[in-house]
Amino acid sequence: MRSLLFVPADNERKLAKAAAAGADALALDLEDSVLPPRKPAARKMLAEYLAGYHGASQIWVRVNDLESGELLKDLAAAVPLAPAGILLPKIRGPEDLDTVSHYLDMAEAIHGVAAGTVGILTVSTETPSAVLRMPELLKVPRPRLKVLTWGAEDLSTALGAGDPRTPEGAWRPVYQHARTQCVLAAHALGIEALDTVHVDFRDAEGCRRSAETARHEGFTGKIAIHPDQVPVINAAFTPSAAELEFARRVVAAFEAGSGAVSLDGKMLDVPHLKSARRLLKAAGASAGGGADGR
Ligand code: COA
Ligand code: MG
Repeated sequence: MRSLLFVPADNERKLAKAAAAGADALALDLEDSVLPPRKPAARKMLAEYLAGYHGASQIWVRVNDLESGELLKDLAAAVPLAPAGILLPKIRGPEDLDTVSHYLDMAEAIHGVAAGTVGILTVSTETPSAVLRMPELLKVPRPRLKVLTWGAEDLSTALGAGDPRTPEGAWRPVYQHARTQCVLAAHALGIEALDTVHVDFRDAEGCRRSAETARHEGFTGKIAIHPDQVPVINAAFTPSAAELEFARRVVAAFEAGSGAVSLDGKMLDVPHLKSARRLLKAAGASAGGGADGR
């Protein structure tokens, strides 16, 4: 997914606008954008919204964390609706994913939802423990785990620290570390990596820059919090015509069968060819030339 738009599940006006935003996926939120007294109403509105939903965006539900006392009620409300998945915040380590995966096994069985239907997208950096233990995610496969994302705000709160960004807008080193761990772990697992929110939602140019930077670092998409961010993010994660054309030229340059070639005065070898093919494949575009099996 290129874009995942957060929508507070207790807000009728935002729910009404969500499907038209053009996001690849929606994250209907039961967690931090909904105040505790509103949680029961949010669960009810979520069910009503999805009963009449015919939009094209995939549906994810952000549930409350394992220590909140709200999670089981959230799962009881969300699983019968058979969303693509739940978004699980504030994990402390892989055992939290396993616990929630068992809860999902049970909820799917109770509600007649096919086993394994509901995926998990987890925020992998909201506690210091989750950041330090990220490599443990690689030890055993977890088929429900489809996407990793990262967040700076909750980590900053856990650290008793201030603004996670420098006055110039760059991530401070501790958050840069968390972000890097997230993107590496996602690729090591062969799953998607979503970049965190650009909180200044009126700043389209800053959102575009941060999305493009994220794409160049290996993220496959980015979270949006406002409909205006969605087209900006979708564009940043869609290869441009110039990029596709260059990728086709790279593939063509290797057709003579050599392992290292020159193009526009620069050396290209097999990693460049693989990257070009990957880009063309992801874009569903033809390489426009004969494959040589590499
Ligand atoms: N999803 C769907 N619609 C949204 C939306 C969202 N995330 N954010 C704004 N809109 C709608 C508004 O309701 C408004 O439509 P309306 O006039 O029919 O009510 C329109 O888009 C323009 O909104 P705007 O006035 O520019 O913003 P706002 O002040 O209403 O809302 C936020 C700003 C940040 C509060 C809002 O974007 C939001 O709630 N975002 C999601 C927050 C969230 O889920 N955070 C947790 C994850 S980090
Ligand atoms: Mg949070």
